[in-house]
Amino acid sequence: MSIPYTLQNKTIWVAGHGGMVGSALIRALKKRDIADDRILTAPRDTVDLCNQNAVDDWMGTHKPDVILLAAAKVGGIVANRDEPAAFLYDNLMIQSNVIHAAHRHQADKLVFLGSSCIYPKDAPQPITEDRLMTGPLEKTNDAYAIAKIAGIKLCQSYRMQYGADFISVMPCNLYGPGDYYDALRSHVIPAMLMKFDHAVQNGDTNITLWGTGTPLREFLYVDDCAEAILHAATHYTDTDTGSGDMSHINIGSGHEISIRDLAQMIASITGFDGDITFDPSMPDGVARKIMDSRKINALGWHPATPLEDGIKLAYKDYKDRHASVPRQDR
Ligand SMILES: NC(=O)c1ccc[n+]([C@@H]2O[C@H](COP(=O)([O-])OP(=O)(O)OC[C@H]3O[C@@H](n4cnc5c(N)ncnc54)[C@H](OP(=O)(O)O)[C@@H]3O)[C@@H](O)[C@H]2O)c1
Repeated sequence: MSIPYTLQNKTIWVAGHGGMVGSALIRALKKRDIADDRILTAPRDTVDLCNQNAVDDWMGTHKPDVILLAAAKVGGIVANRDEPAAFLYDNLMIQSNVIHAAHRHQADKLVFLGSSCIYPKDAPQPITEDRLMTGPLEKTNDAYAIAKIAGIKLCQSYRMQYGADFISVMPCNLYGPGDYYDALRSHVIPAMLMKFDHAVQNGDTNITLWGTGTPLREFLYVDDCAEAILHAATHYTDTDTGSGDMSHINIGSGHEISIRDLAQMIASITGFDGDITFDPSMPDGVARKIMDSRKINALGWHPATPLEDGIKLAYKDYKDRHASVPRQDR
């Protein structure tokens, strides 16, 4: 398969187009002047991706050249703790059905999205791609992580057995327009935006956050991630024949921030001027989590959106979509 691969004149299916990453992928494709009729979408009520026959029928009818597999069951720590069977089953089914049908219907290219949770909880930082399966996973989302690891291996296996150009990308924590704002599903940035916004609306003067505030985390604006995914689709192919080190590629911003500094940034963006306290009796999670993204950087992709700018855009999206915003701010 020649590199770079072009997306022009290809029919591209964004699986999970209504999600945060899927909708960013649609924006990124449109920015590249991909015609609307070349971008395929399949709402869940048309094709439940957990249903093998439905996926196979849809793929047989539409025959996409390129598949961007951004559909998955995704959630925060509470949802992962409460629904491990659903996280494992749904994700195994979605990815197996789509990847197998992509092979059966001879798609040129498929990009599978995993996540940084695939790596061992004690992996040395920054985490390089070859740390996959070198140690135990973080317990709180191991069902989700195991499904994602299976997805990587599935892409790699179809490539090895059939020569299919199926690749896997591993984004770090994402945030931005289209994020989920609810107690069960939210990740850290939307959870903080919601909490600080509520405090401002209610006139609260104190916010308490879990843990010590010292853990370091890496965040990437979702539109930058979408650009990275398209960049990987056009500039990366998994040439590994089994040694493991080219089985997937990390996508991170390369910048880390402590939870305390993040909270201060979000306080300033939301206009919260009260006190922020940390409750050290609550768990922190790992002390540091940052991916090594030198591989995708070497292919020519770099993030474009500074964290503060991205969070302002995410907050605007939150305010536009949520009713708790005072009228004068809409
Ligand atoms: N968000 C992050 O911080 C992050 C970080 C790293 C990697 N990722 C990866 O990026 C991908 C997309 O994540 P996201 O944040 O965009 O998630 P999301 O907003 O929850 O979007 C997931 C999409 O998948 C669709 N979907 C789920 N189950 C389906 C089913 N059975 N049939 C049809 N459609 C189904 C959802 O449809 P409905 O709208 O109908 O539910 C939704 O459109 C995932 O693979 C995730 O692991 C995300």
